[in-house]
Amino acid sequence: MSLQLKPDYRGAYHFSPSRCWMNDPNGMVYLDGEYHLFFQHHPHGDTWGPMHWGHAITRDLVHWEELPIALEPDEHGTIFSGSAVVDWHNTTGFFPEKPGLVAIFTHHDEQPDRPVRQSQSLAYSHDRGRTWHKYAGNPVLTCEDRPDFRDPKVFWHELSSRWIMVLACGQRIALYHSPDLKNWSESSVFGQGIGCHDGVWECPDLFELPIEGAPELSRWVMLVSIGDNGQGAEGSRPQYFTGHFDGEVFLPDEASQQIRWLDHGRDNYAGVSWSDIPQQDGRRLYIGWMSNWRYANQTPTGSWRGAMTIVRELMLEMTPTGVQLLQRPVHELASIRQPVLRLDHAPLDQVRQAIQQLQLESYEWIIRTGKEVSFEIQVRAGAAGCTRIGVDADSAQLYIDRTQSGQSAFHKDFANRHTALLQTIQGERELRILVDTASVEVFADQGRTVMTDLIFPEPGANRVMLTAAQEDAGLYHIELYDLSGSVS
Ligand code: FRU
Repeated sequence: MSLQLKPDYRGAYHFSPSRCWMNDPNGMVYLDGEYHLFFQHHPHGDTWGPMHWGHAITRDLVHWEELPIALEPDEHGTIFSGSAVVDWHNTTGFFPEKPGLVAIFTHHDEQPDRPVRQSQSLAYSHDRGRTWHKYAGNPVLTCEDRPDFRDPKVFWHELSSRWIMVLACGQRIALYHSPDLKNWSESSVFGQGIGCHDGVWECPDLFELPIEGAPELSRWVMLVSIGDNGQGAEGSRPQYFTGHFDGEVFLPDEASQQIRWLDHGRDNYAGVSWSDIPQQDGRRLYIGWMSNWRYANQTPTGSWRGAMTIVRELMLEMTPTGVQLLQRPVHELASIRQPVLRLDHAPLDQVRQAIQQLQLESYEWIIRTGKEVSFEIQVRAGAAGCTRIGVDADSAQLYIDRTQSGQSAFHKDFANRHTALLQTIQGERELRILVDTASVEVFADQGRTVMTDLIFPEPGANRVMLTAAQEDAGLYHIELYDLSGSVS
């Protein structure tokens, strides 16, 4: 059959720009009932180009509204990644009447006759991010000898009553402090001899989180995205560290000497967290760019390119080997669930019969079974193949196999199978899988192991299947929810 239909691959419940290119999430901040998401945007093409900040908002973390472009290139350069805060105490002097938003971003200045310059600049808004004024004193932080000097993430540090900035500098994170967002002093540098140094360090974040079940204990979490160095299979990916922060120095925990990935899939990069979430909510909310620099410019979407992950909540828990990060879909996502199927203690045969007629494109699977059971779920299955998501109980591994998931010829490294070690847990194994038009996000064991992958199935490849290494072993708890109701 020759298909006339060009698949567009726009997700039903993931944010993507209405047109043109998008990469990193930027400036996520909450104010007056709106969660802002700015993003790296090239509004004149469907590949990376001169960067602007695009803008979208959500009031419920599920339904998105795209707004006009927030920041455009100017005489200092194009607008690279950064963050935004609410200046509650008018430390900047920009807000004599009522608190407003300040964006802190990188100006990227690339001229043919001299080396690239990156510097940090400010813009502010009095009208909930609808219009922006660039600060006349830009740039506020420059550096002559660091060619990679970018992606400022800023937060208010209560204990020292000042702003803190974490900034990516080559393969280090520099920490700065400031009373007013305009004058910055360097406090320390983090990153020597620790973590993954396979690529340039980008898009850092630093925040404190309580440890689940022991709220009197907390740790600081440092997120660092590692760029693609063109070697190996992984491309760009996000790592994290846990430790202590005294307002000047980030001191990593012993246990975080080993490399820890925030996501074991191929397509979650440059993610950072929201600023100014009200205290009564208290969650640390996170979103990532669902792509990989290895092939981001070639993915086969239509007149747009780039999507974000769903919004996730980040948490910490104590394990015998140290403190570890958990990620879970925000509970708000349940508001778009349409129940399709629920089975308890069902043998494989019964599950198979119940799902064999189903046709689903954008949906959520929850599957629980004994942790000794090896099983595989096939999603977006059609005549030409499917995406396989499975657990190998013997090696305690989770895998995604997208070698036959649909279109993959756009890049030689796309069709692959990758694995992650599952945690030793009590009781049942649980996979929560969010499938959308062009993605799968797998949260294993309440968010202890996470994998995010793009997929580009043929149109109509909408069947779901379950297989197991031992047909007669294991009973399954299954929940299936349709999430295809249009959300943007
Ligand atoms: C990360 C990144 C950032 C930079 C931006 C440019 O994906 O390379 O370091 O600010 O993208 O678009």
